[in-house]
Amino acid sequence: MDTKTLIQEAINVLPNSYVPYSHFHVAAALLCKGGTVYTGINIENAAYAPTICAERSAFVRAVNDGKREFEAIVICGGNDGIVSDYCPPCGVCRQVMREFCDPKTFRIILAKSPEEYKEFTLEQFLPMGFGPENLS
Ligand code: THU
Repeated sequence: MDTKTLIQEAINVLPNSYVPYSHFHVAAALLCKGGTVYTGINIENAAYAPTICAERSAFVRAVNDGKREFEAIVICGGNDGIVSDYCPPCGVCRQVMREFCDPKTFRIILAKSPEEYKEFTLEQFLPMGFGPENLS
């Protein structure tokens, strides 16, 4: 799948974001090896701490479906659903990516639109991350 299409998948679900507290909408589109895409949105909670980010909600959906290998994730977001800047992943989401993804090849695509985006590796966002192999 090409990058522009993956970005559009994330943009399509941005209105589903449940953000009554921050009003900051985030959407993600996670590309699995083999081509399946799982989208995710942030889901906030009145108790605040149970809030789940868009990226992790995409991973939760994919892993529930038996997926374990991933190529890329698109992230977009902004106040009131207006995407005017890039939205980098939080530290917790970076660590969840580290569980399943190769830091050198997994692509993190921050998008403002299908035409305006920046691409990074997971290693750039999480250098020297602690991963499953550290426990073996
Ligand atoms: N948020 C995400 O969904 N992903 C991130 O990586 C950064 C933060 C959400 C959580 C919360 O609902 C809102 O953005 C404001 O922090």
